[in-house]
Amino acid sequence: MKAISATGVHFTYDDGTEALSGIDFHVEEGEFIAILGSNGSGKTTLINLLVGLIKARAGRIMIGGQAIGELSAEELYQRVGLVFQNPNDQLFAATVEEDCAFGPRNLNLPEAEVQQRVTESLSAVAALPLRGRAIHHLSFGEQKRVSLAGVMAMRPSVLILDEPTAGLDPAGEAQMMQLLKKLNREEGLTVILATHSVDMLPLFANRIYVLDQGRVLQEGPSEEIFCHQEMIDRAKLRLPYISRLMYEMKRHDGVPIDGLPLTIGEAREQLLELIPKELIIAGMGEKRP
Ligand SMILES: Nc1ncnc2c1ncn2[C@@H]1O[C@H](COP(=O)(O)OP(=O)(O)O)[C@@H](O)[C@H]1O
Ligand SMILES: [Mg+2]
Repeated sequence: MKAISATGVHFTYDDGTEALSGIDFHVEEGEFIAILGSNGSGKTTLINLLVGLIKARAGRIMIGGQAIGELSAEELYQRVGLVFQNPNDQLFAATVEEDCAFGPRNLNLPEAEVQQRVTESLSAVAALPLRGRAIHHLSFGEQKRVSLAGVMAMRPSVLILDEPTAGLDPAGEAQMMQLLKKLNREEGLTVILATHSVDMLPLFANRIYVLDQGRVLQEGPSEEIFCHQEMIDRAKLRLPYISRLMYEMKRHDGVPIDGLPLTIGEAREQLLELIPKELIIAGMGEKRP
């Protein structure tokens, strides 16, 4: 079943800027989807349409098989959760606990259930120890995770995140992506994220939609997306660094590399195949499981 779909969607801002010019975007339940595009390509506009913050000028948006206009605001919030790019746009209560409890309280749930949901959602994002903390004392990375917890407390089946790793340090970025993958794999959540950062996507996303100037340039799994150098250039994106290195070694140095490795793991396997065993000094390498 489709979790979300947008068909022939157009959107123009009041000042006449045409942000989306005929988008088709379909996500099945349980998928992990990336909307990849440079700044201004229309990612945030598309996301805002999918969660009903703005209305399409033309086209159709369906959530779980129902037209978005048929759902009440409450139904929509419970099905689709949006994590904003900037935690300041999301977090407004004084403490972490109050913030996470806000959504469930609005559903008029009994207080015990509210507290249960706060505990669960903070645990899910590895932020339970932050429960009593003041929001304005949190680091940026903590704020991002608490924003996610607040959305999770509504128990949506679809999670949409606008640039979830923007502004995070490398460890925070990896933690956020792993967290999202875990929610996707273990809780069955459909995850849709907008990003312009390419390096982690091959490890996490089932499919990628490449957006450029309000249009979908290409859609498919990362192996298909990143083998189209021209399309990637046109979208003002780049290959993952590891793929770029392998591409250069293949093209300029004639190193016989199959296809184009997209992750460090794939590149490592291919290089190990090529290096004569006697050049690899036994016992020098760190043992890996
Ligand atoms: N509130 C707004 N009013 C007018 N134009 C906007 C507004 N928000 C975004 N845009 C324009 O719409 C286009 C798409 O923007 P956006 O969806 O924010 O892209 P992205 O999230 O990929 O950076 C850009 O040309 C941007 O300048
Ligand atoms: Mg944006």
